[in-house]
Amino acid sequence: MDKKFIQFPKDFLWGASISAWQAEGNNYNSDFEKYFKAGKAANHYEMYEQDFDILQKLNLNAFRTSIEWSRIEPEEGKFNEKEIEHYRKYFSSLRKRGIKIFATLWHFSNPLWIEKIGGWENSKTIFYFKRFAEKMCFEFSDFVDFWITLNEPVVYVSKGDVFGEWPPFKKNFLLGISVISRMLYTHRIIYNHLKKCNYKVPIGISENLAYIKPKNKYNILDWFAFYFADYFYNRYFFSRIGGRMDFLGVNYYFSADISFPNKYDQIGEKESDLGWKIHPKGLYYVLKYVKKFNLPVYITENGVADKEDKIREWYIKEHLFWAHRAMQEGVNLKGYIHWALIDNIEFKDGKNARFGLVEVDYENNFKRKIRDSAYFYSKIVKEGGFYYP
Ligand code: BGC
Repeated sequence: MDKKFIQFPKDFLWGASISAWQAEGNNYNSDFEKYFKAGKAANHYEMYEQDFDILQKLNLNAFRTSIEWSRIEPEEGKFNEKEIEHYRKYFSSLRKRGIKIFATLWHFSNPLWIEKIGGWENSKTIFYFKRFAEKMCFEFSDFVDFWITLNEPVVYVSKGDVFGEWPPFKKNFLLGISVISRMLYTHRIIYNHLKKCNYKVPIGISENLAYIKPKNKYNILDWFAFYFADYFYNRYFFSRIGGRMDFLGVNYYFSADISFPNKYDQIGEKESDLGWKIHPKGLYYVLKYVKKFNLPVYITENGVADKEDKIREWYIKEHLFWAHRAMQEGVNLKGYIHWALIDNIEFKDGKNARFGLVEVDYENNFKRKIRDSAYFYSKIVKEGGFYYP
């Protein structure tokens, strides 16, 4: 097959992502810290300048992170000015480097005082989160280029309320439905309030979308199981957002075959260190799926746990190929933000899951080492595309 240059638009955003609790360290007022213990994590809180130097060195022009609610508001109603000042310096350092900022207001972890009142099971959390979001909008709208209200609420609820793996460790499907509808209601409220606070900054939400299909397309029961999974995993979310988004953040990791009653088998060619199968073409299907919303789309996460950096280069290239194909077919994709910039703490899997373009040596003062795949990605960014296959 002839090689073809896969060209991306000039104004395409190329970035990398992290989240606060997973990377910063010392987030002792967060419920996730209580259960998963990140400790110093990747020490990004102290080393962010160095990490931003790396972003720049890699030619990246976008960065996504979250603002840690438990850091800013460690006690109900008491906003910590020192931490606000920290994020002000942090964001202005990105600004000075000409890097576009995607700031997520909530990426799974809650302040301990929120956990105490029942977390997202309690309707009061809507009010508290709204107050926090407004404060962040007031403090940081001059820096932030894109607001993301919530990260993957469906993943959070299925892990925390349905399968009992994350806080609040419940196994109750009906509870899950009520929590997810509360969270999506919160998104709608926050959208309206952020618009009032600063109408210029686009507001979106990041959702983990999976390409799924019935395992046996001749088996009606598999179709039934597929519809059920598709409804709760993909469609319910959009039905509840009510059009309140200026862009959509797509996080893509999986594709799966669904069989009756509720079994799913990941599909894909290769496996990550965590045993997740990788199916780059699934990204194409997912992007085609969201085309109907007629919105700008950013891939706000896509990446692989690969400590030895054996497949990351392949992973990036294949996913970008399929993303590009979707763009050619009319999907308004405006950027790709790789997960993650640096190795960080992967909840239950802790330090073992190495998603970073940059390796973190946890034993040796958190020393950063840029992986080869990062240079490969950087070359794509610099040249605005790559030859394929
Ligand atoms: C989450 C990240 C996580 C990544 C890899 C995403 O679903 O937003 O926080 O590290 O997946 O598992």
